[in-house]
Amino acid sequence: MTSPSRSRSWQKLSTHYQQLHSTPVTIASLFAADPSRFTRFSVTSGEVFLDYSKNLLNDETRSLLLELAEESGLREAIAAMFRGDVINGTEARPALHVALRTPLPSATLKVGDEVQSTLNKMEEFVARVHQGNWTGYTGKSIRTVINIGIGGSDLGPAMVTEALRHLHVPQLSTCFVSNVDPVHMRQTLAHADPQTTLFIIASKTFTTLETLQNAAMARRWYQDNGGDVAQISRHFVAVTANVPKAEAFGIDAANVFPMWDWVGGRYSLWSAIGLPVALAIGMHGFRDLLHGARLMDEHFRDAPFEQNIPVLMGLLAVWYSNFGGASSQAILPYSQSLHLFPAFLQQLEMESLGKSVEVDGSPVQVATGPVVWGSAGTNGQHSFHQLLHQGVHLIPADFIGVLTSVHAADSNQHTHLLANCFSQSQALMQGKSEEEAYQELLKQGRDETSARALAKHKVIAGNKPSNTIMLQTLSAQNLGSLIAIYEHKVYVESVIWHINAFDQWGVELGKQLSEKLYGALTADAACSTFDGSTNGLINHCRK
Ligand code: F6P
Repeated sequence: MTSPSRSRSWQKLSTHYQQLHSTPVTIASLFAADPSRFTRFSVTSGEVFLDYSKNLLNDETRSLLLELAEESGLREAIAAMFRGDVINGTEARPALHVALRTPLPSATLKVGDEVQSTLNKMEEFVARVHQGNWTGYTGKSIRTVINIGIGGSDLGPAMVTEALRHLHVPQLSTCFVSNVDPVHMRQTLAHADPQTTLFIIASKTFTTLETLQNAAMARRWYQDNGGDVAQISRHFVAVTANVPKAEAFGIDAANVFPMWDWVGGRYSLWSAIGLPVALAIGMHGFRDLLHGARLMDEHFRDAPFEQNIPVLMGLLAVWYSNFGGASSQAILPYSQSLHLFPAFLQQLEMESLGKSVEVDGSPVQVATGPVVWGSAGTNGQHSFHQLLHQGVHLIPADFIGVLTSVHAADSNQHTHLLANCFSQSQALMQGKSEEEAYQELLKQGRDETSARALAKHKVIAGNKPSNTIMLQTLSAQNLGSLIAIYEHKVYVESVIWHINAFDQWGVELGKQLSEKLYGALTADAACSTFDGSTNGLINHCRK
């Protein structure tokens, strides 16, 4: 395959970046030259607003990036995804997460019937649990839901459940256990009562070691704490594409919620993997989430590229990764409710874009997925923002804010949150010159010599790019749209880079090795079969 860097638009972008860099053009100067910049570099879709004006781009940059999208065949690639073409070549599958939020079966997406019947099954189950008709072995209603899963079978539903805490039904608490470290399960079970606890074993493959170990631990806890083994099916349900394995584990076939190989783990929260979300906020809330994602799907599919939020964000990511040399991306939700969003995006972005071969197997010639990291603001301001402001790396940041507080009574304090959010992107862009710092110090009463010396340390280079996404409210619908933005943004990047966003072969090696190492750790004899370090570590533990 021809490397994307050989395309005409790529070459033009390369030259253009050098020009901007050598002039040099700053983001602040672009604002000074154009009073309408904010309006011209922002987009609204429903209740989602993207301000991308604080980026190092001008009209020409945008045109060239849009040209790159066209030249890369993005238009056809989007159509292919919505048609259900096999776009995950290495696993010979379509990537049909968009079909999970399509309200009705459609001719092109033939999976619609299965999707609808699964949603109906979820709806019926959620109603029974909420109304107290699904009871534990002593006839008591379910009070605690514990989801056992990892990766895509954990991060998405955990993040959404946490983000929508203000919409939770009062009678249930929902927890998530993912780590094979038994401490995770033990700490969660410490607060649970076997009579009123429901476990959801969530695993697309039903072969994931961590999930199976934790599921077995949960079953032992149920039995050891008086749980009636004959009625265990009232306490264990599964979400999986592997029904025989779930049955072999002891889950009643009637308690299995299906999922399918055409949904990738990190794209699966819209399927029955979202069952804990539906239990936490009700099925109407879960349908709102799907609807929000659907609205963003339609926007992605239909909006012109120059007003298309995921397309613009994907192109900006390419701009910084490949032309600006950025190797990391900060995700900064100014919302405590969204504090798990960066962790969710780490899997979505890094499992999808952490690739070094193109779809045809040839090595990539350009940088692919950056490291994605971040945490909820304002906490990050008191830790890693120092590096964003004065460090030497180019780190584009996505700020995510919510216009209104989830509790109306807190609106004044919420305004402080927004003020901090906007002031951070402002500071990143504007920075502070040595002269400004010097004058400031003189005003504070410093003598000239010490002011001169200290001013050097107070310089903030500025010109650091950021996007700001604003949601009108933190509703299930808007959260659905927000997640879908990033799913599609990732797809845009993968199309430009010619990589497969839907496989994850890199995680397999560690899984294979860990089984062998478990054998060595539990064997009678000292270990000598691996490399020196691994042998040494194993024998150190055996001592
Ligand atoms: O280890 C990575 C992974 O394969 C993810 O892609 C997936 O989301 C996760 O494991 C869990 O897989 P499963 O749902 O099959 O247990």
